[in-house]
Amino acid sequence: MRSDEAGFPRYAASYDGMAKFLHWLVVILIAAQFVIGWTMPDIHKGTLPTGLIAWHLGVGAALIAAVVVRIVWRLTHPPAPASLSPLLGVVSRITHALLYVALVAVPLLGWANASSRGWSVKLFGLLPYPGLSPTGSPVGHAMGDIHGVLAWVLFALIGLHIAGALFHRFVLKDQVLQRMLP
Ligand code: HEM
Ligand code: HEM
Repeated sequence: MRSDEAGFPRYAASYDGMAKFLHWLVVILIAAQFVIGWTMPDIHKGTLPTGLIAWHLGVGAALIAAVVVRIVWRLTHPPAPASLSPLLGVVSRITHALLYVALVAVPLLGWANASSRGWSVKLFGLLPYPGLSPTGSPVGHAMGDIHGVLAWVLFALIGLHIAGALFHRFVLKDQVLQRMLP
């Protein structure tokens, strides 16, 4: 077992390189989505998807692709289990499961809302995704509101998750945080 600068033994059973890359790629894309989503102009009937709104759709398309790859990778490459107490094991499994649910639900609702506005969602501005709801659909419209609310739920889950990571590092002083670091 090697040691890092702080003298913590490196935990052999860390996540594989691809899982770490996808975890941090998704973190960056989600951080961008929160900043853009909360600073872009209010959207009304007839608003055009330009400027920050175009950025939200573009980064969103990349995020959807990254989340799909991440979930496929996770299902085909299960990580080595962390050695946690039974209680912490349950809490972390529930938090991770809820994070995955929100990682799928929030983008899907945003995408459905974009479709209902007649906006196309394209990966890297080239590859168009199919429409998720018909243009003008009131259901697709309502999904935009749920998207905004669930974004807050995701924000809270991320806060809990980061608090958990820091709790492991600085209170329990175990190697759980190191499992997701390069
Ligand atoms: C986890 C990823 C995402 C986060 C955190 C996020 C966050 C947000 C936030 C905070 C807003 C503003 C809500 C409000 O002010 O009420 C918003 C609006 C919106 N987002 Fe996202 N978003 C994400 C992914 C996406 C994706 C993937 C798409 C589509 C491809 C998308 C499309 C939209 C649209 C169309 C709106 C306007 C909704 C409306 O005002 O009716 N979002 N998003
Ligand atoms: C957008 C923000 C984030 C999201 C959506 C997110 C999501 C996730 C998910 C779903 C997992 C479970 C991985 C699996 O077993 O399949 C995970 C693991 C992990 N995340 Fe995050 N994460 C975020 C930010 C962070 C940050 C900022 C940190 C560090 C402070 C962090 C540290 C970790 C660690 C250490 C693990 C591994 C935990 C373990 O070994 O069980 N995450 N993350």
